[in-house]
Amino acid sequence: MKQDMIVILDLGSTENTALARQIRALGVYSEIYPHDIKAEELKALPNVKGVILYGGPNNVVDGVRIDVLPEIYECGYPIMAIGHAAAACSNKLDRLPAGEAETVEILEKFVFRECGAEANWNMTNFIEDQIELVRRQVGDKKVLLALSGGVDSSVVAALLIKAIGKQLVCVHVNHGLMRKGESESVVEVFRNQMDANLIYVDATERFLEKLAGVSDPEKKRKIIGAEFIRVFEEEAKKLEGIDFLAQGTIYPDIVESGTKTAKMVKSHHNVGGLPEDLQFQLVEPLRQLFKDEVRRCGLELGLPDEMVFRQPFPGPGLGVRCLGAITRERLEAVRESDAILREEFKNAGLDKKVWQYFTIVPDFKSVGVRDNARCFEYPVIIRAVNTIDAMSATIEQVDWEVLIKITERIMKEVKNVNRVCYDLSPKPNATIEWE
Ligand code: XMP
Repeated sequence: MKQDMIVILDLGSTENTALARQIRALGVYSEIYPHDIKAEELKALPNVKGVILYGGPNNVVDGVRIDVLPEIYECGYPIMAIGHAAAACSNKLDRLPAGEAETVEILEKFVFRECGAEANWNMTNFIEDQIELVRRQVGDKKVLLALSGGVDSSVVAALLIKAIGKQLVCVHVNHGLMRKGESESVVEVFRNQMDANLIYVDATERFLEKLAGVSDPEKKRKIIGAEFIRVFEEEAKKLEGIDFLAQGTIYPDIVESGTKTAKMVKSHHNVGGLPEDLQFQLVEPLRQLFKDEVRRCGLELGLPDEMVFRQPFPGPGLGVRCLGAITRERLEAVRESDAILREEFKNAGLDKKVWQYFTIVPDFKSVGVRDNARCFEYPVIIRAVNTIDAMSATIEQVDWEVLIKITERIMKEVKNVNRVCYDLSPKPNATIEWE
């Protein structure tokens, strides 16, 4: 293994992740573990060079002030305690200083001088380490991956293709609610360029039939989620001798769904969420990475920019942007208008600047004129938002010229549309999606 590691033990700080990132920014790998880790578990971790006990406001759990097991001090690692009254530790700080430069100085002193760690955390080493670990884990067995074309599953695919080649079986389910060109690009990149073992399932008809006449947003989501699992299971059953399932779990998924002191932030609700009774062992090579690191890893593995910097796209896809009961006519209008929006945002240099942007087609019509005659057609609504964590969002103040250009193109090129609106609502009170 190539990388040294600094372990952070969570003693109730709310800043564990920020600290891990600051240490990684020094070029040294860092992971967070629960306060009650046992000495033998700690010693089993690869290349640990030092330990930070990070205390904070969540240091009382079930009425008891938490501490590390005394045996942790016997492991022989250099230990620094921050915000924690560690009796057996001489290296103690009440808190990290407010100034960035002072914090870096303290961390550098501990990480490099006291622990003797090397700054050897980089994507090349990470990828090499993961390849070795995956090969060790799966041997000559086969691994199955649901490849949606999203950033995380694409990067997992690229990494596993490098590690185990044709032992990886990717299944891409096109639910008919993908954006224009998206399924095609999954096939192009993974089957044609990377020579992956890729099963492409066009399940459009099945999904649209199941969704016909269903207008309640939550029912639509449930149908799409359940049908996705059914299709994937059917494909999995056709294959023989698969022991492993790869998943694009990333570090925030793990940290958010609970170190022992953090409050549960959100449960994960993705169409990629797979049935629990599938009897597979998990392969999760990105479980240690933050999102920006996942992107760097993808670039290093040679994935195209569009895939690596893809904006977030909900699992139920265009299904929640074709409002109410989905019809083919309006689904087509969403897909075509979204493609125009993406193209024009790219032309205007907004694609790397705006967090998420898309179009919505509601299930009502308005009166207009076309070729001197009355027409009764759908509106397209444009939405462009910025956010840090998707919990709240502000709207992007797009230039009028860009909006007018997009409007002209949508009016001209998209069938059954006679009106374009721009959604000015922040979250709250609106949500980002309309359903
Ligand atoms: P809302 O609409 O809740 O969206 O403000 C916040 C973020 O979550 C995405 N989103 C979803 N993602 N499955 C997903 O995987 C879903 O059902 C879903 N609903 C919303 C949305 O695109 C935005 O980025």
